[in-house]
Amino acid sequence: MNAKQLIQKYLDFFKSKGHAIIPSASLIPANDASVLFNTAGMQPLVPYLTGTPHPVGKRLANVQKCLRTVDFENIGDDTHHTFFQMLGNWSLGDYFKKEAIGWSFEFLTGKKWLNIPVAKLAVTVYQGDKAVPRDEESYALWRSLGIPEERIAFVGKDNFWIAGETGPCGPSTEMFFWTGEGKAPARFDSDDHRWVEIWNDVFMAYNKKEDGTVTPLKQKNVDTGMGLERTLAILNGKKSAYETDLFFPIIQKIEPFSGKKYLQEQRPMRIIADHIRAAVFILGDENAVLPSNVDRGYILRRLIRRIVRYGKMIGISTLFTVELAKIVVQEYGDLYPEVRQNKERIYDELRKEEEKFERTLEKGLREFGQMAKHGDLSGTDAFLLFQSYGFPLEMTEELAAEKEIKVNVKGFLAEYEKHKELSRIGAEKKFKGGLADASPVVIRMHTATHLLNEALRKVLSPDIHQRGSNITPERLRFDFNFERKLTPEEVKKVEDEVNRVIRAHLSVKRVEMSHDEAVRLGAEMEFGVKYPARVSVYFVGDYSKEFCGGPHVNNTKEIGHFKITKEESVAAGVRRIKAVVE
Ligand code: ALA
Repeated sequence: MNAKQLIQKYLDFFKSKGHAIIPSASLIPANDASVLFNTAGMQPLVPYLTGTPHPVGKRLANVQKCLRTVDFENIGDDTHHTFFQMLGNWSLGDYFKKEAIGWSFEFLTGKKWLNIPVAKLAVTVYQGDKAVPRDEESYALWRSLGIPEERIAFVGKDNFWIAGETGPCGPSTEMFFWTGEGKAPARFDSDDHRWVEIWNDVFMAYNKKEDGTVTPLKQKNVDTGMGLERTLAILNGKKSAYETDLFFPIIQKIEPFSGKKYLQEQRPMRIIADHIRAAVFILGDENAVLPSNVDRGYILRRLIRRIVRYGKMIGISTLFTVELAKIVVQEYGDLYPEVRQNKERIYDELRKEEEKFERTLEKGLREFGQMAKHGDLSGTDAFLLFQSYGFPLEMTEELAAEKEIKVNVKGFLAEYEKHKELSRIGAEKKFKGGLADASPVVIRMHTATHLLNEALRKVLSPDIHQRGSNITPERLRFDFNFERKLTPEEVKKVEDEVNRVIRAHLSVKRVEMSHDEAVRLGAEMEFGVKYPARVSVYFVGDYSKEFCGGPHVNNTKEIGHFKITKEESVAAGVRRIKAVVE
């Protein structure tokens, strides 16, 4: 079975169970400041898991682009990937444990579906805690479906699922597949890595607040996630997805570049293949970011630099990232047309970044060699490699590990802080941060963003449209197409216009309609974003109408005073405004 067939099977199955198939959301959440990338299929659905009705119904399924960098050091093993695709089905306050578990079992074992022998499966269920009871119901359901007692384990915190620290969450039941040789042991053992987790059903009926308390949600949801990469590997009897059609074409291109074989250089080739795929998806995304020294841009930069360094390690001596990217575009462009549409940008940025790093890598490696002669690396050494040669910290750590010496990470971080050159730390903290921050101030800024969008059109040009948006509790940031810098008078005019509308006390309403209807009404949509067949549109009085998932204030008077703090350029023909509400 290839990837395309597995995706099709999954979606067909859930369609037959009354689910609407929704498109994959952007890898980069547009209005969510708390995560850098979507780390799970449920992330774009948070508003609907917490009570907003979804325009296409209560049963949804899709394949979602995801990216996790917390597992960086595991990349290259059999089961972890930076970018990956998650198959998921959801009940938004509709079905619950019985159907979810029954359908998971049917899809995994059904002859028409994956046809996996029950003898190769094991499951875990939640053992319970102070706030949430032991999940006897799921246990009984699995037993009734024929999973033997010794293949069901009650597990603690690993079976309570939450994306980050706060937000919708709940007990989960995870499904494992035996990947070892021969018959699976009678008893499931969570420490035995030959049992590979392939699917997770979360019974998302709770909400976790910042103070750590867990309370029931208004509705009981189901959120599931099946790793496409892992499942494809096991169905094809492969040790890892690198040996399936998801990666092998990339690896086959790396081999001649390096003059080595996959079996000789398995880990570096896997890392290169993993990272090039992730980089293509970040650069090809609807909300793409470019390599930089902050947040998402820095993660991208680190990925590309690691590709270049591992390439050098296995003997590649020419520019190669674009050639690999072409394979990714060719293999993935049908399912994700955005990577094909944006291929020129992908190739240009890769080429630029590769050339730049190429120039310093060699010198940096020599410098590292000198430093390493004296044993462990000091923080100052690591920082010098970072600042002068662009070596991300983990690259220096890896180089050191290869020489069996250490790096003074604390010392590096101290230097780093001193130079205020932020990123790795800031980015990773944020990355682990969790769900959409829907705090009151973020909601006020979200509605202010809609007003700003419209005000720019009214004051400057009807041709202006949103090119990106990002909101943190500190500020809103809005990108739009415009050819030149705004004059101070124009900035003032836009600000006054937004405040005028705020003071008009307009009410904010959400209406669901078909995509076509929304387009006909002229609702604003973001350039390059794919929207489903039914959408929600937010109306601010009769001033603004926009495709949007919310949440928003009920009346513009709640926004307070709007103030523009900065106007700058982000790219050719794209301007950025930062603003606050007071
Ligand atoms: N959201 C759950 C996960 O990512 C399904 O495992």
